[in-house]
Amino acid sequence: METKGALDALLHEERVFRPLPQLVIEANVNPQEYAEAMKLASEDYLKYWEEAAKELDWFKKWDQVLDDSDAPFYKWFVGAKCNIVYNALDRHIETANKNKLALIWEGEPGDTKKLTYYELYRAVNRLANALKTLGVQKGDRVVLYMPPLPEIVIAMLAVAKIGAVHSMVFAGFSAKALRDRITDAEAKIVITADGFYRNGKVVNLKKVVDEALVDGCDSVDTVIVVHRASVETEMVDMRDVWYEDLVRQERPVCPTEVMDSEDMLFLLYSSGTTGKPKGIVHTHGGYMVGVHRSLKWVFDIKPTDIFWCTADAGWITGHSYVVYGPLMVGTTTVMYEGHPLYPQADRLWDIVERYGITIFYTAPTLIRMLMRFGSQYPKKHDLSTLRLLGSVGEPINPEAWVWFYTNVGRSECPIMDTWWQTETGSFMISPLPITLLKPGSATKPLPGIEADVVDDDGNPVPPGKGGLLVIKKPWPSMLRTLYKNPERYKKTYWEKFPGMYLAGDVARKDEDGYFWIQGRSDDVLNIAGHRIGTAELESALVAHEAVAEAAVIGVPDKIKGEVAKAFVILNAGYEVTDPDKLITELKSHVRSELGPVAVIKSIEFKDKLPKTRSGKIMRRILRAQELGKEIGDTSTLED
Ligand code: WT7
Repeated sequence: METKGALDALLHEERVFRPLPQLVIEANVNPQEYAEAMKLASEDYLKYWEEAAKELDWFKKWDQVLDDSDAPFYKWFVGAKCNIVYNALDRHIETANKNKLALIWEGEPGDTKKLTYYELYRAVNRLANALKTLGVQKGDRVVLYMPPLPEIVIAMLAVAKIGAVHSMVFAGFSAKALRDRITDAEAKIVITADGFYRNGKVVNLKKVVDEALVDGCDSVDTVIVVHRASVETEMVDMRDVWYEDLVRQERPVCPTEVMDSEDMLFLLYSSGTTGKPKGIVHTHGGYMVGVHRSLKWVFDIKPTDIFWCTADAGWITGHSYVVYGPLMVGTTTVMYEGHPLYPQADRLWDIVERYGITIFYTAPTLIRMLMRFGSQYPKKHDLSTLRLLGSVGEPINPEAWVWFYTNVGRSECPIMDTWWQTETGSFMISPLPITLLKPGSATKPLPGIEADVVDDDGNPVPPGKGGLLVIKKPWPSMLRTLYKNPERYKKTYWEKFPGMYLAGDVARKDEDGYFWIQGRSDDVLNIAGHRIGTAELESALVAHEAVAEAAVIGVPDKIKGEVAKAFVILNAGYEVTDPDKLITELKSHVRSELGPVAVIKSIEFKDKLPKTRSGKIMRRILRAQELGKEIGDTSTLED
């Protein structure tokens, strides 16, 4: 493999990558402006956020930037009136953006749709009027169970425009998961599609909705169905209506509801790798400020950019950086309906080339998958339009980082490794294009964000030592509560360390103040008193030429307390002559990468790892299987 130079694993990664001078000169935020922003944010962070808020349009300005009198139920831009849709759409209609492409969409079979800001605006208004005709009022919840179609963007914006609340359920979820979410949200309307294309097949989505609504879900009056695929679709009398029939007669003009800054914008159930899903609540004012500022600064958006975030709109990444962020900054956002390997492993690079994508933001799991097929696929395409890359969702192992940087980014495009969560709404720890990069580190907290690594008592740990990641000040795009469960909100995030937000991740800071996220705190092992992240062990394993993917869990050990067990997927085409020899080799490889604390007791070869639909390995399931325990909730499992 040509990426063998990337053998270093997370623990002792020492390479530093400098951005090209041209990029620094042209950056939206140059080093001097960055230093000034950091100074302002550390002296008066409310002032910093107030400045950020002024870049957006408000119907009425705030009386107070932050109200912390009922902490941790923080309120931002108190007294202000706004609507995020005004900033994402309405305001562009008055500018040169009116006729610019807002959305480029490509279906898996190769069909495309392009909408200008004005066309999107008209489509949103039509659906907004239709929703009102159906009786949807301010505050009502609308569940969107939709594949990546242009209508998913239209639906989100239409719901928010009239002051209702959207709750997106990723189209890969089961009928049961959908039912639970509809029930919890007490949704009045469900918007879906008849089907969609995925890996050369048609997925019949409407059938899942029918199954979900079979019993219960009495709150639902109407199901709106977008026609996408040729599948037989049963329409329930008095309940189901085709999207096209619904909007055809509606006027393309609709006033934007004046919302209180703190009114709910959306509800999104968290990916839930543990337990019952949490309904995470975001509001108009603070969310729009955080998302707008972070995108403009981190991805350095210019008027000519074509921005592609490969996340599904059903996740927070899609909410913030496929839909709201790109539209607020007035860029062109790209959506692809289908499977990344369809019809072959160069589909994404083909899309980058054909539309001249300039910024490409994706997830490590996808990079590793594409890496398995080798560099001949990106090499087939002209990727020279790319200027920035991005990564999100899990720690990116240096191996994948270097492959992405070299083969996709021509060793020129910096990778913005953005650490954040559904709860945080927008980027928290992330480089800017001007930042020195260390592969595998999300670098430093953005201005206005005060993050730290603390021990079990809440005291900061010295550089190099692992601890819990916390955020020490509130920030505008933070979650406000858990839907109908304020107690759980307090308990989950604010109880362990009063006044600090507990992210649930384990991290360490190095001597330069760079943050290295090691994984969820439940994915961290304690081997003979040494804290070691499963992500680090996995990173070491995938750095071996035989290994494509790896998942590590902790298993009890009489002497060491806990030791690691690894599940490994081998690279396609890797010939195993002697499995026992390979296991011994992998163990000693990890040992030499991470030191003697990294004891891997056993290794099992697998064809597949259990993953959530967002691509996170569900180590909890492997652990339960291994220890012969109850597997528990599997509603987020891929299949
Ligand atoms: C968890 C949040 C918000 C984006 C999608 C996932 C992990 C996220 C990174 C990163 C290391 C990361 C953390 C976090 N994570 N980004 N750049 N480096 N870890 O959203 O489902 O709410 O998951 O994803 O563990 O807590 P989510």
